[in-house]
Amino acid sequence: MKKIIALVLALVLAFGLVACNNGGDQSSTASGSSTASDASTASTGGDDSGDLITVGFSQVGAESAWRTANTKSIQEALTEENGFNLIFSDGQQKQEIQITALRSFIEQGVDYIAFSPTVESGWDDVLNEIKEADIPLILVDRTTDNPDESLYVTWMGSNFHEEGVRAGEWVIAYLEDKGLMDGEVVIAELQGTVGAAAATDRMAGFKEVMDQYSNINIKYSQTGDFTTAKGQEVMEAFLKSDTANEIKVLFAHNDDMAIGAITAIEAAGRKPGEDICIISCDGGKAMFQNIVDGKANCVVECNPLLGEGLADVIKKLEAGEEVEKKTYSEEDIFDQNGLAGALKAADHINERAY
Ligand code: AHR
Repeated sequence: MKKIIALVLALVLAFGLVACNNGGDQSSTASGSSTASDASTASTGGDDSGDLITVGFSQVGAESAWRTANTKSIQEALTEENGFNLIFSDGQQKQEIQITALRSFIEQGVDYIAFSPTVESGWDDVLNEIKEADIPLILVDRTTDNPDESLYVTWMGSNFHEEGVRAGEWVIAYLEDKGLMDGEVVIAELQGTVGAAAATDRMAGFKEVMDQYSNINIKYSQTGDFTTAKGQEVMEAFLKSDTANEIKVLFAHNDDMAIGAITAIEAAGRKPGEDICIISCDGGKAMFQNIVDGKANCVVECNPLLGEGLADVIKKLEAGEEVEKKTYSEEDIFDQNGLAGALKAADHINERAY
């Protein structure tokens, strides 16, 4: 009888331990990734994740199709199966939310912090706090204006300045092809979020090209905050001005604003892609479809699929390997007819990832 009781007790104890372990794992397995606030209220974080590498990721927000694809790519790469415990925080395009998330990651003692800064300035204090906490920082997509390279281990993303230059050079080729370079050419620009690297650098690159031509006038330029709704609203306002009929080209800093502008242009009784040439940055399926349908003309690719690169770089760091300070994505340019070396959008629409 004593033997039976001892056996039952041993089984109960063993079952209890397994249940405890599973309980710990389940909280992160079930959610796939947790939010910064979930993790700071729960007693999980770096300690409970066992052999997993805990990464706190502060995302800009969910302002565009590009951003949604970027988030998906990160969440699909930093999974438990791949050795990660991802703590994901949505910054809702607000710097203060991102700063709170970064401080929460420090408090939780995560193994790595990765983030995409919504704007370039205003990060100095929190970046130094991350450095003092000795947590390796990886910048993804956008950059900060802090010149101190010791604050981060590596950065990966797109060359936004180059994207602006490519957009400008394509526009000149288009205007020459259409025989429009003899007179004044009025251009409208929908800028991204004010102060964001993606907006500042694209604007500067585009302007650099345009400044070489005295007949080009970027007469309308305003932020549409990288969203479809604001892109539409600002384009509607441009089209209400007395001289709106002069607009020959629209450069939108992303697809979403270009798509909003297409709606505004059609509502104003003009033909997007014909009356007004439309070029944007990003290269999602929706923009490709507009190019194929003749409602837009060109897109300069900006690649959101940075998740695998992020996972790879963390694994290299874990293995004590050296990593590049900066890694630029490889990107193409797509249009209707393959003007000036661009690829034809129709030939590549089925390959688009988002
Ligand atoms: O930082 C990349 C930019 O941010 C993308 O062009 C835009 O769509 C996004 O919101």
